[in-house]
Parts: sequence; structure tokens; C-alpha cells
Amino acid sequence: MPHTLIIFGASGDLTSRKLIPALYSLFEKGRLPPETRIVGFSRTEYTHEEWRAKLAESTAKFEPQHYQAESFARFAQQLFYCPGDIGTAADFLTLRDLLDKLENDQPCDRVYYLSTSPVFYTTAISQLGQAGLATEDRGQRRIVIEKPFGTDLASARQLNAHLHTVFAESQVYRIDHYLGKETVQNILVLRFANTIFEPIWNRRYIDHVQITVAEEVVVGRRGDYYDTAGVLRDMFQNHILQLLMVIAMEPPARFRADSIRDEKVKVLQAIPPLTPAQVATESIRAQYAGYLTEPGVKPDSITPTFAAFKLEIDNWRWKGVPIYLRSGKGMSCRTTQIVIQFREPPTLLFSRRDQLPPQPNMLVIQVQPAEGIQLHIQSKVPDAGMKLRQTALDFRFQREFPQNMPEAYQRLLLDALTGDASLFARADEVEQAWAIIDPILEAWKTSGQPPMDTYEKGLWGPERSTDWMRAQGREWFDLCPVLG
Ligand code: BG6
Repeated sequence: MPHTLIIFGASGDLTSRKLIPALYSLFEKGRLPPETRIVGFSRTEYTHEEWRAKLAESTAKFEPQHYQAESFARFAQQLFYCPGDIGTAADFLTLRDLLDKLENDQPCDRVYYLSTSPVFYTTAISQLGQAGLATEDRGQRRIVIEKPFGTDLASARQLNAHLHTVFAESQVYRIDHYLGKETVQNILVLRFANTIFEPIWNRRYIDHVQITVAEEVVVGRRGDYYDTAGVLRDMFQNHILQLLMVIAMEPPARFRADSIRDEKVKVLQAIPPLTPAQVATESIRAQYAGYLTEPGVKPDSITPTFAAFKLEIDNWRWKGVPIYLRSGKGMSCRTTQIVIQFREPPTLLFSRRDQLPPQPNMLVIQVQPAEGIQLHIQSKVPDAGMKLRQTALDFRFQREFPQNMPEAYQRLLLDALTGDASLFARADEVEQAWAIIDPILEAWKTSGQPPMDTYEKGLWGPERSTDWMRAQGREWFDLCPVLG
């Protein structure tokens, strides 16, 4: 069956930076399904040729390792453009006519990709419905929706309800690009294709879990958006909770979209939302120094650029294991890492007065940019009596698989085209994630607790975060990964 991918917001940044380079890379590798057409829809008045030329230029810029003028020209034969306004019903009829013409009125699967500002989602969905573009009379119809999906539980519910008036849930693909990252998928392989981790992956052996998504970049040109969102909506509700679900889920019955998503959502269902009193003592919020003078940011803004908090998962596997989540902009380095810290050995057989007690084992999953997994173990320092030191068994993707890591969007676009929803968020997942984040946002707004801290750029967040961990007898894993 041929495919048509229709991109709304075709003149935007995401299309030129991520979507088209990913589609071109798939084409280059021969992975794009045969007879795939890509149609751009946005207000700018391009001709097909002008849009192709613009994308050739942006792909050369954003995908320089792979871009070749001659092969891009062949790829570009599959690109078409339809100028139109999401608010204008007639433009959707023009789009429908163009699609029918390109598809020669033959059956064809279509994927509608909403890569617009979220304020247009509702209108775009209604217009697709009214123009008859969602009916599956000649092939399947799917809709891909970019994040953010709502700004709280109520708006996410509303958006889901509206979506379901036009599309069935099985037609809806909610993007979280973290799920398209190879290392995130590899967590499933690590857990469910090896026998040695699963027996110890529980409260009996694990002391706590840390998930950190640190970014060195600051808000930059995105101040307008960021100041209304903040780090909880921008990173926790989606990416960090997705990482947590993959770490904490039970093995799915099958490697199929709904089996996987059933198990993921159960993790969120087992997390008791934090009470205002817990938010005051179990969360940290902060802004990097200089945030208030970023363009687009209100000078008296109380939007955090850093947050950390502690959750519990109330189920047989995890009860009593603290889960620490943290993310921030303007931090020491870019690193996404998950630390599973195991319990201390029951007796310290080798303790000596001149050395620290042995450190517990840690499994460190480096999601990016130094993709890999390290298992930290105690070793004997040679020729030094029974002196011990923490060393690591070190697996690095780059050493083992020297080819480039594909961009997350390649996998996600291909899955949307071929109808595999495993790596997309389901309606209940998104709503349940908001049900965890909303009470924190609410408590921060109403109680003023914990106070908003400031941190210097280039650190691991505010001091309060370090002190808070220490007060619980634990340490953040503050290590920038070694690249290469
Ligand atoms: C986006 C956020 O969803 O993810 C950005 O809006 C953030 O603020 C980005 O920088 C991080 O993605 P990655 O893939 O670079 O870790």
C-alpha cells in the first residue's frame, strides 16, 4: 500500500530541523516504504519547487554528514506542497483534492502530522474531520501529535475527548521523541532479554533510582514558550516519566503496542500523587541566574528551569524504593542518565580504618550523549592489602557499534507510517502523567513552598538539591559522561 505523510506546520522549525532530515535519512538507507509521498501544508505561499529548494538547503545544514545534492534531488521528487490556513475549511478541501490527485484516487494510507503550535491542534483536528480526511474508506488514516499534549490534566482530557470525536484511539500517535531514542529502547532489551538483571530489579536489592536529564543549554530564543511551560511541563510530564515507565514496568505479555502500553500505564497508576506537604519537603525548584532577563521571560517570573522531586511506586516490585527525578537547563553538561543504586552489602567484611566503607553497586544507564551502560562494582586494588575501589564494567555503544546513532525521529516516523504505535503515548498514559505533575504545579503555586532557589549556570542545580539528597543519606550521581 502506498503512503502519504501530510505535515501541518511545514514551514516551521521542526519540519526543517528534524522531520525532513529524518525522512531523507530513511530514504538514503532504503527504509522509506516505496511510494511514500510527503505533502507540506502551511500558510507560506511556496510552490512545490520552492519548498523542495528550501528543504534542500536546511537538510544540508542540519544533516551535513548524510546530505548529498544528487540523492536529495531524487528524494525531493516525493515532496509536494499545499499552501493553506488551518483556520480555513476551503483550504482542507484543496488539500483533499491534491491528495486524491497525487494518489491517483487509489487506496493509500495517510498520516497527518501536527507539527504546528499546540494552539492549532483542536482546529486542525476538526477540519480534518469535516473535510472527510479522517474516514478510512480508502486506506488507513493516522494522526501524529507533537508535544506538548495539553498543559494540565483538564486540557489533556479535553484534547483527547476532541480527538476521539474524529479519530479512534488506534489512529492516534502521540509523540514523545525520547521513546524513539535507541538507548531508551535498549532499556527494554537490557531488562527483558537478559536473565541476570530481572531477579534483582526490585525492592529487595535496589536502594533507590535516580533519573537525571541535565541540559547545558539555556532557554535562549524559546523564552516566550518556556516561561509559560517551565521544566515540569517541558521535561517531566513527558520525557522523564516515559523513562521511569520503561525502567519500572513489568514485562509485557507480548512485544505489541497495547501490551507494552498497558504495563507502562500501570506504573503511573501506582504512583500516589504528592500531597502539598510532601511537595514542600520532597521537591526542589530553581531558576538559573540570568533567567529573568532572557528574551520573552517575565521579569518577575516564577517559572522554574530546574526541578527535582521524589516519588514512590506503590506496588509489589517497588514499594519503599525512592525514585528521584531531576532536570534542569543551564547545568554542568548535557547528560541523560538513569542510576539504579543497589543496597549495601549486609556486612562489611573488608572494612579497614584507612578506607571508606565499600560503595554500593550501581547500574548507570547513559541515555545520551555517551550512550552506554556501566555497572559499578567493588574491586581489590592490587598490591595494597585488602584495599577496595569502585570500578566499572563499561559498555559503550560507540565502541561496539561505531556507526552513527540514528535520530529518534527516524524510528518514530517509520513506525507511524507502518502503523506500529508501541513507541507512542496512549491517551491514558498522558492523562495519568498529568495527574502526577498537576499536584506539584498546584502546590508550588498556592503554598510558595519550597522556596524558589537560584543556581549559577554550569552547576548541578541549587545547593538545596545536594543538601536535600545528603539529608536522606544519599548522593546525586553528578558526573559528566566521558565522550568517545
Ligand atoms: C524538548 C524540550 O521536548 O526536549 C526541550 O521542549 C529540550 O526544552 C528537548 O531541550 C531535549 O531533547 P533532547 O533529545 O535534546 O534530549
